[in-house]
Amino acid sequence: MTMRGKGGSRMSPSLDLTDPATFVRNDPYAFWHRVRQESPVYWHPSAAERPGFWVVAGYDDVLSCYGDWKRLSSAHGNVLDVLLRGGDSAGGKMLAVSDRPWHRHLRNLMLRAFSPRVLGEVVRKVEERAQELISTVSELGSFDFAAEVAEHIPMNTICDLLSIPAQDRKQLLLWSKEALASEHQEGARLDALEARNEIVLYLMELAFERRSKPGDDVISMIATAEVDGRPLTPEEIALNCYSLLLGGDESSRMTAISSVLAFTRYPDQWRGLREGTIDLDTAVEELLRWATPGMHFGRTALCDFSVGGQRVRAGDIVTFWNTSANNDETVFSAPRALDLSRRPNKHLTFGHGPHFCVGAALGRAELRALLRALVTSVRDIELDGEPQRIYSNFLYGYGSLPVAFRPRSAS
Ligand code: HEM
Repeated sequence: MTMRGKGGSRMSPSLDLTDPATFVRNDPYAFWHRVRQESPVYWHPSAAERPGFWVVAGYDDVLSCYGDWKRLSSAHGNVLDVLLRGGDSAGGKMLAVSDRPWHRHLRNLMLRAFSPRVLGEVVRKVEERAQELISTVSELGSFDFAAEVAEHIPMNTICDLLSIPAQDRKQLLLWSKEALASEHQEGARLDALEARNEIVLYLMELAFERRSKPGDDVISMIATAEVDGRPLTPEEIALNCYSLLLGGDESSRMTAISSVLAFTRYPDQWRGLREGTIDLDTAVEELLRWATPGMHFGRTALCDFSVGGQRVRAGDIVTFWNTSANNDETVFSAPRALDLSRRPNKHLTFGHGPHFCVGAALGRAELRALLRALVTSVRDIELDGEPQRIYSNFLYGYGSLPVAFRPRSAS
């Protein structure tokens, strides 16, 4: 069934993209394939007193939206849920949800958090941690990869980056998990809001402490720097540290879990990696594409313009779907088949343009560390139960992944 939408635009057979259960109950890849064929840019109708929004599905259109900072603003929010609720309270203060010229100044500061000096030490620790975790679990036989491994890598890495005290890390992980997604459907949204506030408050306290007694860490660096001729307010410091936490935890965690799931589904690819016939860096890129943890990002139109033959009006919400772009068969042949040697692989998992992920190098390093540890210690990887999907219309991934590892030494 096709319907008529805003301005007479054709719409694809409907799935509610605002519902966290939609892509648990429906196959996203079949849906997006149909959307790209039938109406690659369409108007998603409003529901439950929330506005409608544009959905952009084709690779080229998604790429052009990411780059179009003159016509598409991030300052009202960059995630659908927040945009539909009327905007992000962090707009204009936090990197991901601000526009030029402020965004550019702030980004230059935030990039210092990822200087080779800071990153080198953090990457060394992540390599050690990954190796330790994988050596331990490979002796266990059966276990939940999400709980025993994936949960411990990204969050600890960001905490290392921010020098978060060890005793606070467990609580931060709990809040972080609640803030973006929920493994249970009920009460997800309220919990998410509360968790987000808790994180910001915690980081504000830390920002106060470090501003008065700065150390050699990233929070101190952000807390004592000047951006566009003035120091950041405690709220701005907290929000920008928070963006590293949330940006860096969930998406890296989902990628790690999906990567191991991919190995259970494509044992020949795993064997190639294990035997060293597949390059680790090439494999990292394909796993990032295959997993695509951030399903969409969004903007608000600043003026009228056209995309994919549709007329967008000033003020409209525009969402672009990485899950669809990364599986666009005009760019990636047999996109759902994991091909760890795939080249070129210009996936949009980290976005594109001025907001391209500042943590991309760290995200890649974490996944690489995991792969290296797996290759070193593990021989066989098998599924050992039903993986549990998370409920979210933003994050794609799993909250639990029961697997059985056979250690290399067993061979
Ligand atoms: C931005 C994905 C890891 C922090 C982004 C964007 C994407 C993305 C798609 C662009 C958002 C937009 O255009 O609105 C991912 C994925 C990751 C990952 C898939 C892991 C696999 C990280 C890590 C950190 C981080 C490790 C920090 C430690 C950020 C921040 C931004 C961002 C602060 C905002 C950049 C800006 O607006 O200029 N990320 N990210 N991300 N990411 Fe990541």
